[in-house]
Amino acid sequence: MDRHKLLQSLHERLRPRTYFEIGVRKGRSLTLSRVPSVGVDPFFVLTRELRCDVHLVRTTSDEFFARRHPFAHFDQPVVDLAFIDGMHLAEFALRDFINTERHCHPASVIVIDDVLPRTVVEGGRGRVGTAIGGAWAGDVYKVIDVLRRHRPDLVVLELDTRPTGTLVIMLPDPSDTTLAAEYDAVLPELVVPDPQTVPGWALERSRAIDPRLLLDAPIWGAIREAREQRGPEAREKLGAVFAGAGLPAVKERR
Ligand SMILES: C[S@@+](CC[C@H](N)C(=O)[O-])C[C@H]1O[C@@H](n2cnc3c(N)ncnc32)[C@H](O)[C@@H]1O
Repeated sequence: MDRHKLLQSLHERLRPRTYFEIGVRKGRSLTLSRVPSVGVDPFFVLTRELRCDVHLVRTTSDEFFARRHPFAHFDQPVVDLAFIDGMHLAEFALRDFINTERHCHPASVIVIDDVLPRTVVEGGRGRVGTAIGGAWAGDVYKVIDVLRRHRPDLVVLELDTRPTGTLVIMLPDPSDTTLAAEYDAVLPELVVPDPQTVPGWALERSRAIDPRLLLDAPIWGAIREAREQRGPEAREKLGAVFAGAGLPAVKERR
């Protein structure tokens, strides 16, 4: 399944009230949204018609999150569905996740693109892949194990999407500060010069699941209902729904 098809299916299943995107470029992913949306990209050049009530911000995600009320465009400043597809470097993607989670609730879904490079060149920090006419996934894949190690409470699923794999994260906790506290400590393992060894699980997609497993899981009604609930009980309840839905458990997938 193509990543945009996955995103479109997530819109259909989740029916989000709000959508947030980091990395807009030509608007190919943003055009899938029909709900109030915020898109951030310092260099977007739209070639698609957008079909939502959208606030486009021409800046970096870091600058966007430093604003006082970044989601003032929304009636309620919370994100139901987020697509992180900006700078394809692990430390940027990790910061984007940390900052996005702060504006989520337990029933939000956060999607990170380009987590399964197909070659070592595609998974490098330099944009060599694009220079030779291919894609550039970068080393965003490193974020997966950081999330699993430091946030075992999250549901973190690697999906086998074309072209370069997608990560879906569920059960966010906007009050959790673990990753922000650990950020400086994990930086040295993220920022490593090329050439790098890209792990086999990424290149071979050995931990990735068919996206249909997630899309067909009996979880979407419960997620939509849980939106109005807050607090630890809401998160626990939703966690039990995910556990009972036969999704691969995070611990088993380590
Ligand atoms: C892969 S493209 C996004 C593609 C788009 N999501 C789609 O599916 O059609 C990545 C975009 O991220 C933007 N970008 C690069 N650095 C960024 C940053 N620090 N913050 C936000 N966006 C950034 C680039 O300008 C580029 O347009």
